[in-house]
Parts: sequence; structure tokens; C-alpha cells
Amino acid sequence: MNTRKLTIAIDGPAGSGKSTVTRKVAEQINYLYLNSGSMYRTVTLLASQRGISPNNRTQLTDLVQKQCRIDFADNGKKTLLNGIDVSEELRHPEIEQQVVVIAKIPEVRQEMVKQQRRIAKNSGVIAEGRDVTTVVFPDADLKFYITASIEERARRRFNEFQTKGVACSFEQIENEIRIRDQQDKSRQHSPLKKAEDAIIIDTTQLEINQVIDLILKKIKEHQ
Ligand code: DC
Repeated sequence: MNTRKLTIAIDGPAGSGKSTVTRKVAEQINYLYLNSGSMYRTVTLLASQRGISPNNRTQLTDLVQKQCRIDFADNGKKTLLNGIDVSEELRHPEIEQQVVVIAKIPEVRQEMVKQQRRIAKNSGVIAEGRDVTTVVFPDADLKFYITASIEERARRRFNEFQTKGVACSFEQIENEIRIRDQQDKSRQHSPLKKAEDAIIIDTTQLEINQVIDLILKKIKEHQ
């Protein structure tokens, strides 16, 4: 079947399951998986490698504009910084802590948006993040907002940590998610919000496969 290559955008809060869902849908339809959070993490990694403080806006602006090219390889499974695979390093706790500060800087966001559009230019793409439905791809063919209750998102993250043997309390995780939501939604530039034309999927009561099927169905209807 000859199908049209679409731009699909998915936003939602931390822990909503959107990364897993987006990655799996991308695999199934053979689209590029564009994880915009990984791009903010990559900038954070580069700043750390160069010894630049996350608060040094001037140096960070220069860094992202002149020395930071981000690409995805292997259909989005790998993140490349200036051609080098940095995927593994992006999940380090140090990056996790600093990325929030760096993602607030308007010049960093502007450059990331530019690079996200460059990456999406020549292929079918399914992008996920906090502002891909509103700022990066306002004209996307299909938009989704994936969410779940705070309790459910905390429960998922708690189970994940338990499986990995990371010591933590449920209350601590719930609290961290509340803070992340607050930071993402109240940010001055490109805060997380529901695009008016986004299809809202509340995953609180859904299994991951049900969410994937729902999205695949919508994509099929659109082609
Ligand atoms: O989705 P994630 O946890 O990998 O995102 C990492 C950080 O980047 C998080 O603090 C939110 C921020 N982010 C953003 O500001 N805009 C995006 N489009 C994606 C992520």
C-alpha cells in the first residue's frame, strides 16, 4: 500500500508512558522516533563535558549554536552528538538534575526547535516531548497528548525502580513527579500544555499495548 509520510507529534507529562509508546509505534510503522527530551539531555551532556555551568546562558547559547549538532541513528534508537553515539550517557543522574535548568533557556530551545525540524524534514517522523505539538510541529498531521494520574505515574516509576533495585519511597517519587509537572507546566518558554487539536489519551486505566493500538488506529485512519 502506498502511504503518505506523516508528521506525528506526542506531548505529555513525565512518566505518562509516552516514550515507550512513541518508540514502539515508530518501530511498527518504520518512522523515525524523535525524542526531543534526549536532545535537551544531549545539550546538558555537552555542557558538562565542556565544564560550562547550566546557568551560564551566554556560553550555552554559543555552544548550542556553533558546536552542537544532534542527529538520531538507527531510526531514533541512538542519539548522536557531533556524530558520536551518546545514548547511554543521557540517563545519568547528573544529567537528569541539570537538564531542567538548561531546557528553560530560550536560546537553547530555539536551536533545538531548528534542529528538530531539520531532523524531521525528509522522513516520516513521530516526535515526543513537551512542546512538539504546540511549538515544534504546530502543523503536525496528527497530535496526541498522553497523560495519566500522578498516582499512576508514580506507581509506574516506583515499580521500575524496584525492578532495577534502586532504593526509594513511593512518596518521594510521587513528590518528584509533582515537582516535574509544576516545572514543565509553569515554564515561561514553551510550557507543557494540551494543544487544542490534540487527541487526549488518559493511560491511567490502560495497558501500554492498548495505547499503542489506539494510536496505530488513528494513524491508519489518517493515511
Ligand atoms: O522527557 P525527558 O525526561 O527525557 O526530558 C528531559 C528534560 O527536557 C525534562 O526536564 C523536560 C525537558 N524537555 C523539554 O523542555 N521540552 C521537550 N520538548 C522535551 C523535554
